[in-house]
Amino acid sequence: MKIAIIGSGHVGLVTGAGFADMGNEVICLDHDTQKIKLLTRGKIPFYEPGLSELVQKNSEKGRLHFTTYMKEAVQFSQVLFLCVGTPPKDDGEADLSAIENVARSIGRNLTEYRLIVEKSTVPVETGAQLYKMIARSTRKKITFDVASNAEFLKEGSAVHDFYNPDRIVLGVETPRAKQLLLKIYKPFKVPILVTDVRSAEMIKHASNSFLAMKISYINLISQMCEKVGADIGKVAEGMGGDRRIGKAFLNAGIGFGGSCFPKDLAAFIKIGEKLNVPCNLLKEIAEINKFQKIHFVSKVEKALKKLKGKTLGVLGLAFKPDTDDIRNAPAVDILEQLRDRGAKIKAYDPCATAAAKNILKGIRFARNPYEACLGADAALILTEWREFRDLNLKKLKRSLKRAIIVDGRNIYDPQTMKENGFHYYSIGR
Ligand code: UDX
Repeated sequence: MKIAIIGSGHVGLVTGAGFADMGNEVICLDHDTQKIKLLTRGKIPFYEPGLSELVQKNSEKGRLHFTTYMKEAVQFSQVLFLCVGTPPKDDGEADLSAIENVARSIGRNLTEYRLIVEKSTVPVETGAQLYKMIARSTRKKITFDVASNAEFLKEGSAVHDFYNPDRIVLGVETPRAKQLLLKIYKPFKVPILVTDVRSAEMIKHASNSFLAMKISYINLISQMCEKVGADIGKVAEGMGGDRRIGKAFLNAGIGFGGSCFPKDLAAFIKIGEKLNVPCNLLKEIAEINKFQKIHFVSKVEKALKKLKGKTLGVLGLAFKPDTDDIRNAPAVDILEQLRDRGAKIKAYDPCATAAAKNILKGIRFARNPYEACLGADAALILTEWREFRDLNLKKLKRSLKRAIIVDGRNIYDPQTMKENGFHYYSIGR
């Protein structure tokens, strides 16, 4: 199958390279000429394990191409996947201007039947609007279809997730669209749910909001555990043992971040409000998430008695491990609060330092965990990178001025830390 990917960001690039690897011919488009130049040279503009190899392999085999021209993408492909960004506006509503721009551009370049598939997370009913926008932009009457095929891949394991989805959701309105998408997804031996476009759009927002709810729920319970001396790890294990609840996404911490959950939740609330459906439950998910970061800052303050003038060695900036992404990273918010309250910060992240330097002002950066903690009054753990789990605790203790660790990700066993002579504070334990 000949496929075009419109928007070569995280989702677009993984999807494009993945489809190419399955034997399709793929062209990835982006309006950013620098990015396309980089990709043409086999270089990836962000960190995602395994992606660079996948792009290089499929480019060399001649199955993966890059362009900045919509005309080329539309002519080349039978199916176009829209993977452009849908960032939040100030009020949380999804900004669909990129989708609208590509819709018009596709419409202007349509000369024969094409299937246009939304992969970006969009509010329910965007498919219907997309159809109208494309139809208005075509020069003459041309048949085309709009479908929805939400992407559920996670940053840091995106390549693995592409090949191993739990399920595939196809929202279609015509047999032709259904047949084309089923052909593309034939090699995947996983359940495929075929539904209408509106339901498919709803599935994506409802799924991400539900996962965010699980995280806020466990974070709320972690607050209670702290008050009564219960252990959130055990509580989550006990809850997750019930198959109706499930073990995943019950790790208490400093809250969820990234480019998806905060934005999708805000957009889902806006959708509910527009539809006159009370969304207090969804709003509370965001509130708990905000509180979790404030709570962590108080925890650091309590451990150190006061923040002003104290030096903090910070381990982790990315919103989660195995990514250099710091968009909506809890670490950024927390470090800004600590800095504004007079703490001196030296931070280390295995991948995200370059990105953090652009937005985090007034803090210093280190080249390794021990350097970040050298002479510090406390070490803070803000991202659960493997590297931090494997630290040499004796060396860490020698680097620190005071043996205090405030762990926002519960990566250590409290008893082990005690035995190693640390004052160790974590979440919900
Ligand atoms: C998410 C969805 O999982 C994915 O299906 C969707 O398509 C895109 O958004 P991603 O943002 O890459 O993926 O990260 P994810 O692994 O879901 O984690 C999101 C945030 O939740 C991170 O900040 C993570 O630290 C936090 N989290 C996750 C917790 O705090 N506790 C958990 O138990 C799980």
